[in-house]
Amino acid sequence: MRLAAITILGGLMLAGGTPAFADDPVEGQKVARMCQTCHGIDGLARMPIAPNIGGEPKEYLEAQLMAFKTGAREHEMMTVVASTLSAQQISDVAAWYASHTASASLPAGTSEDEAPSECVSCHGIDGISIALNAPNLAGEANTYIVTQLRAFRIGTRKHEIMSEIAAKLSDEQIRQFADWYSKVNLQITREE
Ligand code: HEC
Ligand code: HEC
Repeated sequence: MRLAAITILGGLMLAGGTPAFADDPVEGQKVARMCQTCHGIDGLARMPIAPNIGGEPKEYLEAQLMAFKTGAREHEMMTVVASTLSAQQISDVAAWYASHTASASLPAGTSEDEAPSECVSCHGIDGISIALNAPNLAGEANTYIVTQLRAFRIGTRKHEIMSEIAAKLSDEQIRQFADWYSKVNLQITREE
């Protein structure tokens, strides 16, 4: 569903002549060398505290990198990384990771009915997000999901939708939802 939306958007941008932001995924691949120890060159995370970023929407990746750069979102590693990047490099590296495709499969023996009904409308049953501005949760490390939900809950990370949702979650719910999405199998691929 999201792919279809992206294809339509891409088509509109092409039809309109100049895309909203000029970006170059090939240049972005060079920038991604700075990211690969933690996020992998394809965006499959190499450490539990770092999220998978391959196949996320370009707008989402760019917005998060700009948030780290401006201080709207803070993290000891990412704040440093983002501060060294220009807006052009951010646009390019976001385009590189967005040029990948994320797909997911539920582990054997799980039923779709167990998926958290509070989350699936945006993040999908398998954690491949349906809403364009929402990131994938499929296969994120349990600890990453828990950390982000707690950050939204206490206000150290802010977002009009997620802050409100997280404010109402108990520790037990946070644990359950993190368990569900973290056990999904994630694949990240890229067509050359
Ligand atoms: C030393 C490890 C490290 C390096 C290098 C690194 N990151 Fe990160 N990145 C992290 C961690 C850890 C987080 C999670 C931050 C948090 O908990 O808020 C993160 C978060 C992010 C996010 C937010 C994703 C989301 O789902 O919200 C993006 C986007 C991102 N990194 C992109 C990059 C890019 C692009 C580079 C290279 C230019 C890079 N990172 C380099 C460790 C790293
Ligand atoms: C109405 C849509 C919507 C619903 C419902 C929703 N989310 Fe989100 N979620 C978002 C959006 C949009 C973001 C991106 C926030 C940002 O830009 O910082 C997000 C971000 C997140 C993140 C951060 C992921 C990352 O990569 O950094 C987590 C974790 C998360 N949501 C978990 C949940 C859980 C668990 C539920 C169910 C209780 C839920 N969300 C329900 C829209 C939604």
